[in-house]
Amino acid sequence: MGRTIAPYMTYHGASWLVREEREREEHCKTMLKALAIKPGQAVCDMGCGNGFYTLKLAKLVGKTGRVLAVDIQPEMLRLLEARANEQALKNVELVQGSVIDPKLPEGELDLIMLVDVYHEFSYPEQMLRAMRQALKPDGRLVLVEFRLEDPSVPIKLEHKMSKEQVKKELLPNGYKLVEEFDKLPWQHVMFFQRDDGEEGEKDEEKDEKDIAGEKDDGQE
Ligand SMILES: C[S@@+](CC[C@H](N)C(=O)[O-])C[C@H]1O[C@@H](n2cnc3c(N)ncnc32)[C@H](O)[C@@H]1O
Repeated sequence: MGRTIAPYMTYHGASWLVREEREREEHCKTMLKALAIKPGQAVCDMGCGNGFYTLKLAKLVGKTGRVLAVDIQPEMLRLLEARANEQALKNVELVQGSVIDPKLPEGELDLIMLVDVYHEFSYPEQMLRAMRQALKPDGRLVLVEFRLEDPSVPIKLEHKMSKEQVKKELLPNGYKLVEEFDKLPWQHVMFFQRDDGEEGEKDEEKDEKDIAGEKDDGQE
């Protein structure tokens, strides 16, 4: 794969995610605006942590929309739950995922957002497959990652990703790059959609091989 998978950030560091300087350092409002979220949409905050973005997404999709907040750490989900309750937000659904399965419904999501998360996946291919199945045919997956290409971004190397590396991992896994937003001070924003054509072909090839394999087995 050509990179070191970063250890996931534990809930002990959760206060860093809601630090006061975050807006100034990362221009979070600009990033959210670039997502062009509409009221009523179903969105997922994948690797939500303590919900810095989840609460903002909940307001953007409004009462008719829903936000599925997924994390592998139950402690993060509890911290998020407390913050959502404080703000009386009713459209947030907490989902305890596993490292290979985000436990999402199939084909229902307009958007899956991953901020500073993908590089922590210990099983990226399995996660990519599961998220792809959860997207609507025209749904989007958005990766927001600290720029590896820029040494002035003050983040540990294994928590950064280059655009080349992101493409190297997503394109062969049934995604196509549809848009990029390059106006944040520290992060890339890369929008992907399902590449059903190619993945369909891959699935067909796999089915053919499986059938051929079954025939071989029969002959032995
Ligand atoms: C650096 S934090 C970012 C949190 C949040 N996205 C934010 O920007 O405030 C990364 C989070 O991703 C979660 N994570 C890592 N691997 C995951 C996986 N396979 N599925 C779901 N969450 C995961 C970690 O538990 C952690 O809470």
